[in-house]
Amino acid sequence: MKILLTGGLGYIGSHTAVEVINAGHETIIIDNLSNSKIEVLEKIEKITKKRPKFYQEDVCDINALTKVFKENPDIFAVIHFAGFKAVGESCKEPLKYYKNNLISTLNLLEVMEKFNCKNFIFSSSATVYAVSEIMPLEEDFPLGASNPYGRTKLFNEEILEDYQNAHPDFNIVLLRYFNPIGAHESGLLGEDPNGIPNNLMPYICKVATGELDHLNIFGKDYNTKDGTGVRDYIHIVDLAKGHIKALEKMLEENVGLKIYNLGTGTGYSVLDIVNTFNKVNGNLVKYEFVARRPGDIAMCYASPSKAEKELGFKTTKTLEDMCRSSYLYQKNNKK
Ligand SMILES: NC(=O)c1ccc[n+]([C@@H]2O[C@H](COP(=O)([O-])OP(=O)(O)OC[C@H]3O[C@@H](n4cnc5c(N)ncnc54)[C@H](O)[C@@H]3O)[C@@H](O)[C@H]2O)c1
Repeated sequence: MKILLTGGLGYIGSHTAVEVINAGHETIIIDNLSNSKIEVLEKIEKITKKRPKFYQEDVCDINALTKVFKENPDIFAVIHFAGFKAVGESCKEPLKYYKNNLISTLNLLEVMEKFNCKNFIFSSSATVYAVSEIMPLEEDFPLGASNPYGRTKLFNEEILEDYQNAHPDFNIVLLRYFNPIGAHESGLLGEDPNGIPNNLMPYICKVATGELDHLNIFGKDYNTKDGTGVRDYIHIVDLAKGHIKALEKMLEENVGLKIYNLGTGTGYSVLDIVNTFNKVNGNLVKYEFVARRPGDIAMCYASPSKAEKELGFKTTKTLEDMCRSSYLYQKNNKK
């Protein structure tokens, strides 16, 4: 089958491209390189021995998108990764986020309808859930995002639900990712943020290579086992394989609209991550405790049961795997 990946040279898209190719599908990628590099295409080819068809185009450009579908009229499914994802930036530049993250989806639906392509997998996020005292988060828990980025995900989910209601033969899988970390075992693909990273693992990796001095841990008095924040970290390769499970389901049946969490169901604290990283990679990461960060919650982890029951999705990688592969990639790609 022909599968179109928007944002397929980014962190999650590139790992998923490898899995899509390994599953025997023909892969087409559209990416405008706003947050990725063309070299990633060579790396996907190096790992899989197959080069995806690539279009350097903006998904918000409907003419460009139409051209891609004209040249590839038999696309079976679209996996839509393209979008901006930095929460802090979305608070400073909300319009940039609403434009890119919403217009891209609207354009895709319009062009897919024109070319009779009826399968859509969307990169949603755990940020769509309202703050909850109850964990793990299940797919039918109340929703309510707290920042513009999260709202773009929530609005996208609502747009897709409305569209599916109006087109019952259109199939949509909303995948709510928890916290993807780690890298491909080859050390060729990984997360490569520009500047000082916002997320824990890329930050830890830069401390380990000496690019940053130490890690600040925000808060040590949360109501968790060791006082630091707890999140559901999922290995990027496990996450990528979740998309293959969703595709397989779409190949078997008309799914209508389905929503799945992609997480492990296990919450790890910041100290769990730092200690495991130091255990598997050598004692490289120093840390200090600083005040809590406004807006951060104590705990957030997924119920993975629905994805396991309905998609047969089960994660296999350990926290050690996540820490080892992240550092391998960082060492290989030190700037
Ligand atoms: N990484 C996470 O922690 C996380 C968690 C939940 C959801 N998500 C979502 O998953 C998706 C992929 O995330 P990622 O971590 O791989 O991000 P990423 O920034 O690494 O990848 C996104 C890719 O999309 C491209 N892109 C952005 N806008 C585009 C446009 N208009 N046209 C064409 N290409 C465009 C970028 O160049 C980049 O290669 C995003 O939608 C993100 O919001 C990510």
